[in-house]
Amino acid sequence: MTIDRNAPIGVFDSGVGGLTVAREIMRNLPNEKIVYFGDTARVPYGSKSRNTVLRYSRQIVRFLKTQNVKAIVIACNTASALALDTIEQELDLPIIGVVKPGASMAVKATRNNRIGVIATQSTIMSNLYPTLIQERHPEITVFGKACPLFVPLVEEGWTRDPVTEEIAGRYLKELMDKDIDTLILGCTHYPLLRHLLQGVVGEHVTLVNPAYETAQALKRLLRELDLENIENSELQLPEHQFYASDAVEKFRDYAAGILPCEVRSTELVAIENY
Ligand code: DGL
Repeated sequence: MTIDRNAPIGVFDSGVGGLTVAREIMRNLPNEKIVYFGDTARVPYGSKSRNTVLRYSRQIVRFLKTQNVKAIVIACNTASALALDTIEQELDLPIIGVVKPGASMAVKATRNNRIGVIATQSTIMSNLYPTLIQERHPEITVFGKACPLFVPLVEEGWTRDPVTEEIAGRYLKELMDKDIDTLILGCTHYPLLRHLLQGVVGEHVTLVNPAYETAQALKRLLRELDLENIENSELQLPEHQFYASDAVEKFRDYAAGILPCEVRSTELVAIENY
């Protein structure tokens, strides 16, 4: 199969969280066009089983293929942890997730070999972050903590609210007691809480946002496969497309608030049909 180098990149998440990954791709690969899908009808993924997340992810991949994407980024830690391995084997397109890049970045960042990971219940249960980190560096100890209240707080827009700060203090206390010097924001919603979380853990803890390293990994992958877009340029920026499975207006407003590009509209997709 020949892949069109000027085709878009498919990016998906359970909802708006993956927009933090899309944002890094836009900043670091400005010539690439993105087709984003947010599964707003079925969010959250973070409390669901592997079978369900895999079934949802397969449907989204089938939808993105109808958009003729040249590569796919799973911009969701939960789907990366539970579905990427299987989908990678089934797919005839390059695909990457956010967990591996996040793990590599944390290994580089730690100085005392004590890393904390905050993520959804399913990502923590998958144990993938500790496994990947210890594969790279067996001396590192990884401490995980599920923070299920963060996703609804971010979706509510309470990213600098005293209530969120109080909850973060409770969640993070046990990690801080373990003397971590690096904290992986292992859910794509969490970078939107970055300021608040940095205040809670203190400046001596390095916050790792896997989205940045994912954009770098995508850049390397496209270069290796000779799939970088050569059509768009600084003068003619790509027009990204946004799709969601529910509440498209709310999604559009959220996307417009955090992306460095114009978000004209979001189209509704009946994702169960794929
Ligand atoms: N975006 C998802 C992640 O990165 C979290 C939201 C959800 O639970 O669906 O894991």
